Amino acid sequence: MDSLQDKIATLDRHRMPVHVAMIMDGNGRWAKRQGFMRSDGHAEGVSTVHRVTKMSSDLGIKYLTLYAFSTENWNRPNEEVSTLMYLIGWAIERELPELLRNNVRIHLIGDIERIPEDARKRLFDARDATAHCTGLQLLMCLSYSSRWEITEAARKIARKVLKGELDLDKITEETFADNLATAGIPDPDLLIRTGGEERISNYLLWQIAYSELYFTPVLWPDFSDSDYADALLDFQNRERRFGKTSEQVQNED
Ligand code: FPP
Repeated sequence: MDSLQDKIATLDRHRMPVHVAMIMDGNGRWAKRQGFMRSDGHAEGVSTVHRVTKMSSDLGIKYLTLYAFSTENWNRPNEEVSTLMYLIGWAIERELPELLRNNVRIHLIGDIERIPEDARKRLFDARDATAHCTGLQLLMCLSYSSRWEITEAARKIARKVLKGELDLDKITEETFADNLATAGIPDPDLLIRTGGEERISNYLLWQIAYSELYFTPVLWPDFSDSDYADALLDFQNRERRFGKTSEQVQNED
């Protein structure tokens, strides 16, 4: 089975992941292999963002979370950071009409105040313009790291305890989840990382406790609809046990 249509037809629409998270790695290596600048790799990566968003929306996936810029990425050369910020602002503005047509809502996750004003304004405009959209919920992680998010949550909870709004002994896992940037959003079912590295890189550490992890050597700009379908098919062939035995899960089914 090799055509995209065959793969899509094989997908069980009743067992699609509700939430897919992605680590979009490999833009720099892709560019180097073509003899281009790293920034050209990021520009090409924007086309993959467009395709995975469209395919997720068409397949009825409810949440797609993309790691667009990590807290650690601020340490990259100034020129690369500036280009990425420009690209992100430009891409979101360019994509807005199609996002609206497809009923896609943008959410921004991360320390957004650190994003340069021009890009930040375009991001806020896209977020506000899509606030009514009820289809795919597209979460863009920008200036994001999971340890930053968890530290912020701890600070928010401590503040509520100090103010007497929250009883220390009543802090539960739900309290914690409700104070993360992803409050109200179900945990990812599937995490895809492109680019060949098999690590999590400070991404959604709390939320991926029971996510299925899928690593592919394909570089992000080359990640095709067919590669995405492969990841979804692989996900559907896994047994998710959430700590239970295989027999228990099969009896529940
Ligand atoms: C990692 O590849 C990729 C990034 C740090 C940036 C990803 C951003 C985009 C694809 C643009 C996003 C745009 C929107 C609108 C969300 P790398 O540079 O680390 O690649 P390497 O490992 O090959 O060096």
